[in-house]
Amino acid sequence: MANDPHPERFRVTLHRPGESFEFDAPADEFLLYAMQDAGIESPQICEQGWCLACAAKLVSGEVDRSAALTNYPEDAEAGFVLLCSTLPRSALTVTQDIHETRREMTQHRIGHNQLARAYPPGVRFGFRRGRVKPD
Ligand code: FES
Repeated sequence: MANDPHPERFRVTLHRPGESFEFDAPADEFLLYAMQDAGIESPQICEQGWCLACAAKLVSGEVDRSAALTNYPEDAEAGFVLLCSTLPRSALTVTQDIHETRREMTQHRIGHNQLARAYPPGVRFGFRRGRVKPD
């Protein structure tokens, strides 16, 4: 559709303990905001990819994690995604336990001597919302 501000969308299946959701995520919008637009809330603090509040795990599909202010290859190898700073690149299946996944990712980072819930060097404060590119 010529005037569609989101020409590419991917189906996302989110599993949480005791419940599951499905929603469509635009390719140019971070998963956290696509979830919120679908009425699904997630823990969030920094919205910049360093506090780990929005941690989830990728079960299947392709994502772009590069917008996170802390983005380590070991996170991807372990399947972690930060919903506030991850873009979908295919249909996805994601799991999130809002009580446990953040703790699990924090321990994973500590185990790799990486930043966990700490300001990365040179962090600039300022929050973003919505699409990566303007319409
Ligand atoms: S809200 Fe802080 S890492 Fe996502």
